[in-house]
Amino acid sequence: MRKFLFAILFPLASLSLRAASEASLIGNVLNRQTISLNGDWHYIVDIQEEGYYDYRMKPMRWGFFMNAKPQKPEDLIEYDFDASPTMKVPGDWNTQDPRLFFYEGTVWFERSFHYTKTPGRRVLLYFGGVNYDSHIYVNGKKAGHHTGGFTAFNFDVTDEMKDGENFVVVKVDNKRHADAVPTQIFDWWNYGGITRDVLLVEVSEHYLENYTLRIDNQDFKRMEFSARLNQALAGEKVRLRIPELKIDKTFETNPEGVVVASWKASPKLWSPEDPKLYHVELIYNEETLTDEIGFRSIRTEGKKLLLNGRPIFLKGISMHEEKAYGGGRANSTSDAHLLLSWAKELGCNFVRFAHYPHNEHAVREAERMGILLWSEIPCYWTIAWTNESTYQNAQSQLRDMILRDQNRANIIIWSIANETPHSAERDRFLSRLSTYARSLDSSRLISMAMEVTNAKNYVNRLNDNMNQYVDVVSFNQYVGWYRDVNDAPKMTWEIPYDKPVIVSEFGGGAKYGLHGEKNQRWTEEFQENLYKENVAMLDKIDGLAGTTPWILKDFRSPRRVLPGVQDYYNMKGLFSDKGEKKKAFFVLKEWYEKK
Ligand code: GCU
Repeated sequence: MRKFLFAILFPLASLSLRAASEASLIGNVLNRQTISLNGDWHYIVDIQEEGYYDYRMKPMRWGFFMNAKPQKPEDLIEYDFDASPTMKVPGDWNTQDPRLFFYEGTVWFERSFHYTKTPGRRVLLYFGGVNYDSHIYVNGKKAGHHTGGFTAFNFDVTDEMKDGENFVVVKVDNKRHADAVPTQIFDWWNYGGITRDVLLVEVSEHYLENYTLRIDNQDFKRMEFSARLNQALAGEKVRLRIPELKIDKTFETNPEGVVVASWKASPKLWSPEDPKLYHVELIYNEETLTDEIGFRSIRTEGKKLLLNGRPIFLKGISMHEEKAYGGGRANSTSDAHLLLSWAKELGCNFVRFAHYPHNEHAVREAERMGILLWSEIPCYWTIAWTNESTYQNAQSQLRDMILRDQNRANIIIWSIANETPHSAERDRFLSRLSTYARSLDSSRLISMAMEVTNAKNYVNRLNDNMNQYVDVVSFNQYVGWYRDVNDAPKMTWEIPYDKPVIVSEFGGGAKYGLHGEKNQRWTEEFQENLYKENVAMLDKIDGLAGTTPWILKDFRSPRRVLPGVQDYYNMKGLFSDKGEKKKAFFVLKEWYEKK
């Protein structure tokens, strides 16, 4: 009854709920003409989604997204963003409001800002990442809905924007669901919120939506370019300039608004030793879009992994997207630089960004620092393999991961899954993803983290149908921790596939500063010994092309509850959560020095 009154009182406002349109992901947003909406956003914790559903659990027309204010003294408005607390965006709510440390549910965010419209310019509202399910409104009008916590999305909100005061309201819900991606259980903190940048992107009516620029993996002297406009317009002129290479070419779009071209060129190749990036300019419709792009070749030959035609050993480490100290989602270049410099100290030339696409700042910083990357979508453990909307969700995350980072020379592997149970349904789901990834990007390698969970008579055998859908066979193994403690020296490995092998996880937990016998769990000596035995064991694996031990630093996880040791941290880091190096750090560093 109460809420019905409101509809009568505010008829005009509630009627115009026409949705704006979700535009395909715009590429290279960081070099576009943008206005940042990062900063302090008001928030309202809404555990029963009072602001979205009425008491009959029906979505309302007058929810919190209206950001309504009483107009007359008798008006009843039972929320007020302006009087509500604020938190930083980008950021998670768990580490910004102690009441929300364990919170999983809905939180509403609101940000007001002044804007001046420019005739002939369109405005996209861009989010780098919102965990997990988000409804977006501009000036009370629905801009769109997005699912997935680790990929970017944007809506064309030109018609919703006003000259003068505007407001954006976002309903964020990070509740876990069995049919979601990731599914209900995962070994990392379910940080909720608007965890990455929020930008207004100003573009012309017709704009360059996305492009790819790379060299052919076989013929390093062949440069390949493709570009796509936001509309299917033929005969449009797209100009590409790479001043340092004296490249200045103009192409015409085909009826789909697409350019595809290749030509001879001899760029210096990007490599970890020399992460050469070229300044690139793309000119279309009197707009110049710049980028810094590296050129490299990545391919396999039997069990060899070849970077720029030469075999490479991937000296890696796994990493979560968590700030170096004290937890919380990492989301800036400086966050990334600190963590990646720790990896460099280890002697790494490769990092596995686990288990979801990390933010663009981290990917680009790794590229500048000469660090190769494995990027993954969170098809983690037991996903709802037979649920088509779960598949579409996973495929969208895969698409958006590729569309955002397809020009990053340092990304060499797209990973489609981690530790998934064998079944025909799983194979169907993942093989579709593998095929789809290749259709979007045939220039990179496809992999997934398989697993070897036991040995027969000390013989460990990788046996996974998905081997035929990947270019690199990768697996997680925890000899010395979850199984076969101190048996690593006796172990042998059979990997019956003529493909490069990456051991995508191994390791064990230790509490920094806890010392004792090497068979005493949780001591640095136990972890140190485990690493010594594991690296010696890995050296025996035929075709081993790299490894990404689990993990760079201790990280928050709701699954780790051992008091005085874990305290909601997974303790398998080589660094503590205070940046302290554990003894095992030096074992891995020494091994990599020999590689
Ligand atoms: C798994 C999983 C990780 C997890 C790790 C662990 O292999 O992929 O996400 O944190 O094991 O148990 O510590």
